[in-house]
Amino acid sequence: MVANKSLTFKRVHETPTVAGQDIAVESREFDLDQELPSGSILVQVLYVSFDPFMKGRMVEKPVMGPYKLNEPIPNTALAKILRSNNEAFPVGALVRGEFPISQYAVTTAEELHAGWAHLIQNSLDFPLETFLAALGMPGLAAYASLYEIGKPKRGETFYVSAAAGAVGHVVGQLAKREGLRVIGSVGSDEKADYLVNELGFDAVFNYKKETVDEGLARLAPDGIDIYYDNVGGETLDAALLRMKTYGRIVACGAISQYTRVQGPYTGYGVTNLFNITVKRVIMAGYIVSDSNMGPKYGAEHMQNLSKWIAEGSFKSKSTVVDGIDNSADGFGSYSFERLHRASAQYYYEFTFIDGPTTCQPAPGIASVYPGPYLCWYRTPTTKSVTRAHNRVRSIMAEKGPFEGVMGFSQGAAVAASMILHHELESPWAPPLFRFAVFIGSPLPFSHSLKYGIDTRAYFGVPHNLNCRPFTDYKRPSKVPGHLITPDRYLKGNSDDDDEGQGRDGEVSTNETLKQIAADEEIYYQMFHSTADEVRMKIPTVHIFGRQDPWYLHSKDVLQLACPEQASVLEHCYGHEVPRHLSEEICDLIESAVASVECY
Ligand SMILES: NC(=O)c1ccc[n+]([C@@H]2O[C@H](COP(=O)([O-])OP(=O)(O)OC[C@H]3O[C@@H](n4cnc5c(N)ncnc54)[C@H](OP(=O)(O)O)[C@@H]3O)[C@@H](O)[C@H]2O)c1
Repeated sequence: MVANKSLTFKRVHETPTVAGQDIAVESREFDLDQELPSGSILVQVLYVSFDPFMKGRMVEKPVMGPYKLNEPIPNTALAKILRSNNEAFPVGALVRGEFPISQYAVTTAEELHAGWAHLIQNSLDFPLETFLAALGMPGLAAYASLYEIGKPKRGETFYVSAAAGAVGHVVGQLAKREGLRVIGSVGSDEKADYLVNELGFDAVFNYKKETVDEGLARLAPDGIDIYYDNVGGETLDAALLRMKTYGRIVACGAISQYTRVQGPYTGYGVTNLFNITVKRVIMAGYIVSDSNMGPKYGAEHMQNLSKWIAEGSFKSKSTVVDGIDNSADGFGSYSFERLHRASAQYYYEFTFIDGPTTCQPAPGIASVYPGPYLCWYRTPTTKSVTRAHNRVRSIMAEKGPFEGVMGFSQGAAVAASMILHHELESPWAPPLFRFAVFIGSPLPFSHSLKYGIDTRAYFGVPHNLNCRPFTDYKRPSKVPGHLITPDRYLKGNSDDDDEGQGRDGEVSTNETLKQIAADEEIYYQMFHSTADEVRMKIPTVHIFGRQDPWYLHSKDVLQLACPEQASVLEHCYGHEVPRHLSEEICDLIESAVASVECY
C-alpha cells in the first residue's frame, strides 16, 4: 500500500474557491499491486490541467455536470502507465486523457474511452506541460475553431479576449500566421508586453485600464472581422458593436460568467445582439470534442504545432504549480489572473544497487550497523574502477534506463567517475544520466591513465620505470594534502575481484600492496579540476558536511560540475546523510528533477 494524495471536491460554492475548505488535498491508501480488471491500466499522474470550466462545475447549478462531493476532481492529465491490462496502453508509455487529480489511479477501459485517452509520443522532447497547453486541449480548441468557424482571411482584423490564456495565445499566433491583424485584450501590462514583444501580436490593450469599447475604438477603428470570444458578458457586448458586416464570432467560452451563471437569468444581459442581424454576423459556439472540431483537426493540429514549436516559430506558454500538495492552493488562488496553469507532481522509482566487494566498515559505522559492509572497490586502482563501471553499466542495461543517479560516499564517486568518462569518451552521445546527486562524495577516480592526477604515491605504490602513466597534459606538480587518501581507507588489496574477495580472500595491508606493486602495474588516477578540463554537463546536487573527512574532496567534486547547473547543501555534520535536513535535500533534488523534466 502507498499513500495516494488527491485534490478532492469538498463543498459547493459560488464565491472564489478556498483551498482546504472548498477543495482539499486528501490522502487515501492505494494498492499498487491490486488486481486490474481486464482493459484497465494503473497510472501515476504527472501533470493535470487546471481549466476555467472546472470552477463552473463547483457551483450550485452547474451548466456542465457537478463534481462528486468528497471524490477526487477529474480533469485532463498526462500520466505514466505503471501497470496495464490493456494492450493498447503498454507499461511505461505516456498517456493523456481524463484522470482523477491524484498521484495514482486505476482507469477502466470504458473510462479510457470516455476520457479520450491516447498515447503521447514526446519524440521532440518538449516540456511535458506543452501537451496540456498548445499541444493539448486548449491548443486544439483554438486551432479547430479558428478554421472551422472563424475562417480567417489574410488582411482581416482579428480580436481575441483573454488573449494570454491557454486558448488565446495560441489562437492569436495562428491568426498572425494566417496574415491577419491581431488585437488582444488582457488584464495586465506584463501580459500585453509579452503578447506584442514575444508572440508578435499587432496590438494588445489592458481592459483594466480602459474599457473594451475604448480599446477597440482605438486599436480597431475600422471594425473587427473575427471576434474570438473567451470572456462573454460585457466584453462580448462591446465587440458586437464593433463587428464588420459578414464578420464571424467564435463563441469559445465566457469566463466572466462562470460564477455568475447560477440560473437562466443571472448572467450579464447582452444588449447588442441585434448587430448580428444588421451586420449579417455569424456567431457559433462549439465544444472541442465535437466531431467537426477536435476529432477533425487533431492530427493536423499536432503535426503543425509540433513542427512550429520545434523550429521556434510558435510558442506554448503555461504556468506550473509544483506538486500535488500545492494543488488546492494553486487552484484556490486561481483567479484567472495568470497564464494557463498545469499542476505537476513528481514520481520517483528507486533502484538500489550495492557494491560487489566486502570491506571493513568506515569509522563509527560498526556500532550502528552490523554489516555486511559492501563497497565498489577496496582501493580505487584503474582496474577496480573499470570493474565498478562495468558492473554499473550491466545493471543499467538490465534495469535501466535511469533518469538520474544518487550516490553516497564511494558510490557517489563511482557515479561522478562514470559521468566524467562518458563526457570524455562519448561527448556526442546523450548524457548517461540527466541529473546527479552526490552525498559526502570523495573525488572520483579514473580507469584510464589519460585522465586525472597520478596518486600512486599516496597509496603506497612505488613509481617504477615500467609503470609510468602518460603525463601529456597539465598535471599539478604538487598534489594538495587533502587529496592524500587517509591510511584508514587503504584497507584492501588493490586488485579485488568481482566476487568481493581479495587476491587471497584476505584484506591486505599496505605492505602487501607495495609487494604487489613491485611486480605488476598498479595505477591510481584521481580526477581533479586542476588536472582535468572535463565537467559534468548535467544538473548536479552536492550535499556535504563540514566535519566530514571528505569535506575538501566534496568541495573539489563541485569544481568538476558546471557551476550554473550545480546546487549545494553544505551542513555542519560529518560523513552522513543528515536526516533532519531531508526537506532541504528533497527541495534540491526536486529542483534538479524539474530542470530536466523527468517523469
Ligand atoms: N469551447 C471549448 O471547447 C473550450 C475549450 C477550451 C477552453 N474554452 C474556454 O476558453 C476560454 C479560455 O480558456 P483558457 O483555457 O484559455 O483559460 P486560461 O488559460 O485559464 O486563461 C483565462 C484568462 O481569462 C482571463 N479572465 C478571467 N476572468 C476574466 C474576466 N472576468 N474578464 C476578462 N478576462 C478574464 C484571465 O486573463 P487576464 O488576466 O488577461 O484577464 C485569465 O488568465 C474559457 O472561457 C474556457 O472555458 C472553451
